[in-house]
Amino acid sequence: MKHILLAVTGGIAAYKAIDLTSKLTQAGYEVRVMLSNHAQEFVTPLAFQSISKNPVYTNTFKEENPQEIQHVALGDWADVIIVAPATANTIAKLSVGIADDMITSTLLATETQTFIAPAMNVHMYENKRTQHNIETLKSDGYQFIEPGDGYLACGYVAKGRMEEPLQIVSVINQYFNQHETQIESSFKGKNALVTAGPTVEVIDPVRFVSNRSSGKMGFAIATALQKRGANVTLVSGPTQLDDPKGVNVIRVESAKEMFEETLQYYDTQDIVIKAAAVSDYTPSEVLDHKMKKQDGDLTVKFKRTQDILKYLGEHKQDQYLVGFAAETQNIEQYAQDKLKRKNADVIISNNVGDKSIGFNSDENELTMHFKNQDMVNIKKGKKVEIANEILDELETRWQ
Ligand code: PMT
Repeated sequence: MKHILLAVTGGIAAYKAIDLTSKLTQAGYEVRVMLSNHAQEFVTPLAFQSISKNPVYTNTFKEENPQEIQHVALGDWADVIIVAPATANTIAKLSVGIADDMITSTLLATETQTFIAPAMNVHMYENKRTQHNIETLKSDGYQFIEPGDGYLACGYVAKGRMEEPLQIVSVINQYFNQHETQIESSFKGKNALVTAGPTVEVIDPVRFVSNRSSGKMGFAIATALQKRGANVTLVSGPTQLDDPKGVNVIRVESAKEMFEETLQYYDTQDIVIKAAAVSDYTPSEVLDHKMKKQDGDLTVKFKRTQDILKYLGEHKQDQYLVGFAAETQNIEQYAQDKLKRKNADVIISNNVGDKSIGFNSDENELTMHFKNQDMVNIKKGKKVEIANEILDELETRWQ
């Protein structure tokens, strides 16, 4: 069952949102509703609760479940968000990133596709500022459900009426229909394993060696694969990121644990993508007690970790093996060398010397190096978009 999060803001058209909740529920969607304070001047949470059969969210600080942050969890839960009615005020706040209540905080904290159904007085709607805000949001990927012409509560007969609930349901149905066909993919039903994040190599109970990987690149790839219908296992080192929806997430700490968990799954995988920044070295000895400081310098002896990608390359059956290469110089040469040495099918290189991409950034810029010497550059962009471009490139080549 698809999840719809309906955000109701403060205009007289809020009464239509009750009908919209009912129509969405009847169409087979599970609906949760957020009401702004101003919306509650027109309609009550109880009306929406009774129809949606779910709790209604009104206050960012009323955290009912200590296991989650509500305004983040709600956005993650939703397959689609609808703001209906959307006032000029909410549209303006969203366009500049203001998050001062439950609805705007949720909208700012989500990457879920959001539909906005404005409702307001015609002059407010046509006001240059409102139109500018709408254009900004459209160019950022928000989809607008245009208001219709008709009798407005202010007495005008003009454009500004919130679109009729049945019409909104049909827009949402259409979106899901198209979206389902879009995810027709060669990864559908395949087993995919992705590694992500750093590893942590312990020196003593309080110290460790690690790196700056945030996990964003690997998590974006795992999410994109899941959306294309793959059965995804994500083996991740420690990160601040939430588990992607529908992905089997295995959290590990050290390179050794990452190796062991990856091996557990390797035999059954069709494709493996290794975006993790695995430590090449680990302390030769892990101390049971905190190392005491002493005069003079300190030397810690390290030993090599297992090169997981190389091991997988050596023990490959039919798996398609994609590795990454984090380089700061001679990028192409080192990537080609890794392709051969690790028996990978593709190496994806990134210049981690550039601070605006690579480690811990929201963006990346990559080159895919294929075995047949093809090279494909992926231009700088958000990691979530880059992940899809990587998969688009692999779609036809990987089998
Ligand atoms: O996590 P983010 O903050 O989003 O950053 C993304 C990233 C920069 C970490 C990612 O894009 C990336 O480049 N990942 C690979 C980092 C790395 O360790 O590269 P490497 O050149 O050292 O290793 C080459 C390949 O061998 C990698 O696929 C790596 O996972 C693998 N490897 C390395 C060492 C080791 N002991 N075992 C391995 O499997």
